[in-house]
Amino acid sequence: ENVEVVIIGAGPAGLTLANLLQRAGIGCVVLERQSRSYVEQRQRAGVLEHDGARVFEEWGLGESVLAGTSSDGRLEIRLDGRPRFFDVAALTDGRAGRVVPQQVLVQRLIATFLEGGGDLRFDAAEVTPHGLDGPTPAVTYTDADGGRHEIACAYVAGCDGFHGVSRASIPEGALTTYTYDHGVAWLTVLADALPPRHALFGIHPAGFAAQFARGPRASRFYLECGTADSLDEWGDERIWEQLRLRLGDPDLPTGPITEKLFVEMRCFVADPMSYGRLFLVGDAAHIITPMGGKGMNLAIADANVLARSLRAALREGDEGPLAAYSETCLKRVWDHQEFSRWMHEMMHEAGNATLAGPFRRQLARARLERLFASDAAARAFADLMA
Ligand code: APR
Repeated sequence: ENVEVVIIGAGPAGLTLANLLQRAGIGCVVLERQSRSYVEQRQRAGVLEHDGARVFEEWGLGESVLAGTSSDGRLEIRLDGRPRFFDVAALTDGRAGRVVPQQVLVQRLIATFLEGGGDLRFDAAEVTPHGLDGPTPAVTYTDADGGRHEIACAYVAGCDGFHGVSRASIPEGALTTYTYDHGVAWLTVLADALPPRHALFGIHPAGFAAQFARGPRASRFYLECGTADSLDEWGDERIWEQLRLRLGDPDLPTGPITEKLFVEMRCFVADPMSYGRLFLVGDAAHIITPMGGKGMNLAIADANVLARSLRAALREGDEGPLAAYSETCLKRVWDHQEFSRWMHEMMHEAGNATLAGPFRRQLARARLERLFASDAAARAFADLMA
């Protein structure tokens, strides 16, 4: 079997790339370890930024991917329970993000790719890339019936997340990796509870909390918690009590909790995002904390750059964009990592004085106040949020 591009992984990164390559008329096969229903039900990110939405529009996928999704141009920051509103759309000339739960995006990307005749293989075990540093790489895997397959290709796209096989197949020493631990833990809770009107951030002495819409009747909550906490210590009652306190809303709508887990608050960047004929996309190359909602958007941005670069290489004989792929993506990655850390520091330190001390607490509050006092500061913040 022979195909132009093998894509490993069918998360937001792999499925976006698959659809863009299909639009470019480039043949690809997607190999995914999990089942279709597993992938379609996985709930994680929820906001597609303006630039992310534009990627789909530019490739003629706006209607199939974005139809019926609503945009949310405002966010609310409750400082010690007092509401402050921030109009991202007004500050960015209308570049607002859209509320698109990850599972909705994934379901639509799968349906669109299959309707276009795409080749998507779920339940692929032991996916292994070969010959990445030579001219003729290949990927082997085992199907659900135990049959072994080998697909020869021109390029491999590693879209298999942080724990995938792609980055792991790059020889040691070929990558420089950067890691950072915020030293803070978050509990995340998914509940069938009425969502807030706008993305909601709570800054409070008891710790940071946030609430985001995940559809018309579901919310994702985040709660700062102790780094050594266990789930047993966070019973439903305590969760709602802390959310009411930190979000400053005694009448916070509640509902059945459908997921409860600790969030990985580590950051990671691999440089370069490629090795020979393998290109890493999304979480396979970099992870970021949920603060700022950048993870899924970075994956879509990478996929867009890679699709354009592969089209140039395969259709126009121009290897230049592919050679620059990593550098192009890493600029955005580091820009977003910086923003996410900046926001993280402000949102946590302005509330919880035990985290960095009273002096830094005042600094964080000054940083926050500046967003409401200075139009230039507000625009700079909105530009990075949009
Ligand atoms: N073989 C085949 N598939 C694999 C393998 C493997 N060895 N390892 C992982 N996968 C699959 C996973 O099952 C998953 O479906 O690769 C996919 C990777 O998806 P994500 O982890 O979601 O990574 P990515 O697509 O880069 O996601 C981008 O979206 O919601 C966010 O948090 C997410 O920030 C991330 C972003």
